[in-house]
Amino acid sequence: MTRKLIILTDPGQDQAAALYMILGAPQAFDVLGIVATAGNIDLSYTTDNCLKLLELAERTDIPVFAGCPRPMSGTLVTAEHVHGPTGLDGPDLPDPVTRIEEEHGVQFIIRTLREAPPGDITICSLSPLTNLAMALVEAPEIGSRIKEVVAMAGAYFEVGNITPTAEFNVYVDPVAADIVFRSGIALTILPLDVTHRMLSTPDRLGAMRALGSRCGIAMAEMLEFSESFDLKKYGWEGAPLHGPCVPAFMLRPEIFEGRHINVSVALDKGLTYGMTVADWWCITDREKNVFYVRDGAPEAYYTLLLECLSTLP
Ligand code: RIB
Repeated sequence: MTRKLIILTDPGQDQAAALYMILGAPQAFDVLGIVATAGNIDLSYTTDNCLKLLELAERTDIPVFAGCPRPMSGTLVTAEHVHGPTGLDGPDLPDPVTRIEEEHGVQFIIRTLREAPPGDITICSLSPLTNLAMALVEAPEIGSRIKEVVAMAGAYFEVGNITPTAEFNVYVDPVAADIVFRSGIALTILPLDVTHRMLSTPDRLGAMRALGSRCGIAMAEMLEFSESFDLKKYGWEGAPLHGPCVPAFMLRPEIFEGRHINVSVALDKGLTYGMTVADWWCITDREKNVFYVRDGAPEAYYTLLLECLSTLP
């Protein structure tokens, strides 16, 4: 059955890969719209990057909306050190010729959920959760209308990447993450614990480039740019490919492993600010609010990504 998606994203090379996995599986996903998030890079870049990626894939039928320009609390933390000054460094993509929608991304989320039958729409979050949280604050009733949220967010056994305890998407807007984690909405997260199993080795990047398509070559160029920071940091055979874990879980849940547990977001300012505290052994009686994906099968993951990528121009 086709899933209707609202995608929240701040491209970012790995989010580009996630988007292309989604666009490469039209039998499984119907993308209602994309809400550009401030995260990896400022909002002005993430909106442009969404447009660039849709134009390259010849999918300008999908509307793009600008979300909020900063998190719900604090100032915006970005990641140019990983993604480059444009957030999508690597290929030389032309400036977009299409434009974003006039409607604010938060209003798009609220309106679309109000208009759709309850349980019809999945929120596919590849970014900080600012815009979903803002929509839930403005229109709390939409929460019960969401089928589920599937998000790249958090870390526990793999610890943090932007601080020793916090994962970037949560750290950028922990207040928003806390609102979503406490919302009661069905929530699956793909944390660093599983995304760090998905390493873009030279062979895997070479297979993308060997597709010879515009999107295949651009994808390889993007990841060959963004990998350098993580290769130096981790010393692994490839850089972790975070974003596509979200659509891959929706497409092939059987290649992942996880369990329903409590995950709480630490909001106390200090060493653990933005940490996702995962009660993996169910030590507490806190609500099991999250399906926490801890592991996955890398070969099946990259085979799936390549299959989807190969269908794009
Ligand atoms: O923590 C990893 C996530 O944060 C990735 O999606 C990366 O692009 C950054 O946005």
